[in-house]
Amino acid sequence: MKQPTSGAGEHESGGKRGLTRRDAIAGAALLGAGAALDHVLGEGLADSDGASPPASAGTVPFYGSHQSGVGTPVQEFLHFASFDVTSTSRKDLAELLRSWTVAAAQLTAGREYGPARQPQSRPPADTGEALELPPSQLTLTFGFGPGLFAGSAGDRFGLAHRRPAALAPLPPFPNEDLDPGRSGGDLCVQACANDAQVAFHAIHILSRIAEGVAVLRWTQAGFGRTSSTSRSQTTARNLMGFKDGTNNIDGGDARTMNAQVWVNAGDGPAWMTGGTYLVARRIQMVFEAWDSTSLEAQQQAIGRYKLSGAPLGKRREHDPVDLHAMADGRPVIAANAHIRLASPSSNHGQRILRRGYSYAEATIFGAGVIEGGLFFISFQRDPRQFIEIQRLLSAGDALNRHILHTASAIFACPPGASAPGRFIGEGLLA
Ligand code: HEM
Repeated sequence: MKQPTSGAGEHESGGKRGLTRRDAIAGAALLGAGAALDHVLGEGLADSDGASPPASAGTVPFYGSHQSGVGTPVQEFLHFASFDVTSTSRKDLAELLRSWTVAAAQLTAGREYGPARQPQSRPPADTGEALELPPSQLTLTFGFGPGLFAGSAGDRFGLAHRRPAALAPLPPFPNEDLDPGRSGGDLCVQACANDAQVAFHAIHILSRIAEGVAVLRWTQAGFGRTSSTSRSQTTARNLMGFKDGTNNIDGGDARTMNAQVWVNAGDGPAWMTGGTYLVARRIQMVFEAWDSTSLEAQQQAIGRYKLSGAPLGKRREHDPVDLHAMADGRPVIAANAHIRLASPSSNHGQRILRRGYSYAEATIFGAGVIEGGLFFISFQRDPRQFIEIQRLLSAGDALNRHILHTASAIFACPPGASAPGRFIGEGLLA
C-alpha cells in the first residue's frame, strides 16, 4: 500500500498554510517550464491573480461528527468507486482507512496529495490531473459493504460479530436484472465535486493508495445531479426531463436528518452512531419507450408537471402534494403515479435522502441506443426505509415500463473523522 507522508492535520493547524494545488502551479510558473514540479514546490507561495473564486470552487469541511457528501448540497459531478479487499489482514485494512483519511483531508482541502518534496527518481505521489483545479467542493464519503464482515470469503477480518444487523444484502425486487460485476463491494468511496476531473482524480489517488490491499471492483461516473438537498439549490432535471429532488430531505434540516438519515445511539453497534446507510442502484431508462410516450402520460406516470415540476393540480414546484385531490371522479395523482407510491403516506412515514446522478454510456445494443439513466443513491438511518419504498415502487410504479434496475449495492457509512489524527472507521477497526 502506498503511504501518504504528510499528516492529516497540516491544513487545519493554523500558522503555516498547507500546500494548495494553486501554490504548486504558481511555484512551477516561477521557475519556468521544464523545471521538475516536485522540486519546485515551496511553502507560502502567494495566489497569483487575487481573483476570488466562486463558492462552487471552494472547500467543504472534511472533519466532523458526520461524513460530508450526505447532507452537503449536491455537487454537479459524481465518481463512485467500489473496492474488493484482497488482503486478509485486519491491520492492512485499518492502515488503508487511515491512509485514505489522510489523503481525503488533503484532497478535499484542494491540496496536492503526498509530501511537498519528492525525489525525481520516483513516480510522483500525486498523479497531477487536478493541479490547476480548485477544490470544487470535493467531498469523499466512505462505506463498508456486508462482505467485509463475513461472506463467501468467511470472516476474514474477525469483524462478523460487529456487523450491524441492518447491513445485509438487499432483497430481490421485481423489475431488476442485476449485473454482479457492477454490484456490491467491500468498500465504497463516493467522490462528488463541481468539476468531474477533481472527482475522478480523488478516486484515482485513493485507488493507487489501496494497491496491495484492495482493488477496484466497479466505478460509476455521474453528472447533472438529480437531487437537491438544499432549498437554496434549483432542482435539476433527470434524463427523462423531469425536475428530480423537489420533495427531498433538506440536508440543513438537522431534526429530519437525525430522525431519517443519521444512525442514532442505540440503533445498532456504537461504531455506527452518527453514520448512515448508503443504497446505490443503477437504473437504466428505456428512452425509446419514454420518448414516445405522450406528455400527458409522462406527467401521469410521475404525478407532476414536466415544465414547472408542480404536483398535478397545483401551480408551483414546491406546492404541497395533495394525494386526496379528485377530478371527474378520479384521483388527480394516479394510483400508480411515482410520487404517490414513493410518498411517506404510502410507506408508513418512511423517508430517504436521495443524492443520485444521471449517467450515460455509449453502449450500443441491438438497434444502437443510449445506455443511460439514473445512478440512484439514497442515504437513510436504516436500509429498511429504502426497502419499504422500493417494494411498493417495484410492484406498481407507472415508471416500471420505462426503467430497469441493473446494479445494486449497500454500504454502512461510519461517522466522520472528528479531528486530524482520527480516521474513518476507527470505531470499527482501531
Ligand atoms: C429512474 C428511476 C427514477 C426516476 C426517473 C425518479 C424520478 C422522480 C421524480 C421526477 C420525482 C418527483 C420530484 C421529487 O420530489 O423529487 C421523484 C420523487 C421521489 N422518488 Fe423517484 N425516481 C426514480 C427512482 C426512485 C427510487 C428507486 C426511489 C426509492 C426507492 C425513489 C424515491 C422517490 C421519493 C421518495 C420521491 C419523493 C416522493 C414525495 O413526493 O414524497 N425514486 N422521483
